[in-house]
Amino acid sequence: MRVQVIDHPLVTHKLTVLREKSTPSPIFRLLVDELVSLLAYEATRDISVEETEIETPVATTVGVQLSHPLPIVVPILRAGLGMLAGMEKILPTAEVGFLGMKRDEETLEAITYANRLPDDLSNRQCFVLDPMLATGHTLIASIDYLLERGAKDVTAICLLAAPEGLKTLEEHIGDRADVTVVLAAVDEKLNDQAYIVPGLGDAGDRLYGVID
Ligand code: URA
Repeated sequence: MRVQVIDHPLVTHKLTVLREKSTPSPIFRLLVDELVSLLAYEATRDISVEETEIETPVATTVGVQLSHPLPIVVPILRAGLGMLAGMEKILPTAEVGFLGMKRDEETLEAITYANRLPDDLSNRQCFVLDPMLATGHTLIASIDYLLERGAKDVTAICLLAAPEGLKTLEEHIGDRADVTVVLAAVDEKLNDQAYIVPGLGDAGDRLYGVID
């Protein structure tokens, strides 16, 4: 597993405003959108392309286009939905699958309540969107769904991770697939409720409000 922390002053600046508890939801959403586009730019550096011949107004030349099958983007509902628009700006022709997962606050295990993925993901580059890699359980369950469908190349784009979650994820993946995690920062630790410290709180609540 490869972990890539994007070291850029604009990424750190936007993340700082996201962390601030007084940042209101509309600004939070806007910043997640901008931040994801910056992360997506790096996360798609190895996207598969093939050569294509085109006519400019002046001459024939060779450029590139995305290879088929097109990549698939999978936001993990609810909070990952807030990352979709930022990703689509960078990769507008990607297809989109959905996974709905929540964590059981007692066992911290991931519960799946929605799964809308193509049956065959072999030869597809997959981009999973999940803002907070805390215990790693949600991302592990999501990546397992993709690997079961034949995916071999998975990139997770997250805003923040805890070292504990990264370690659990790495142990789980082993050498079964080529998995990359692209992040804005790796924080200090998890607290007793498995929240990332210093973190930014509950990403879903900050994006969309508290629903339970
Ligand atoms: N999920 C969140 O939204 N925040 C955390 O800190 C951990 C999990």
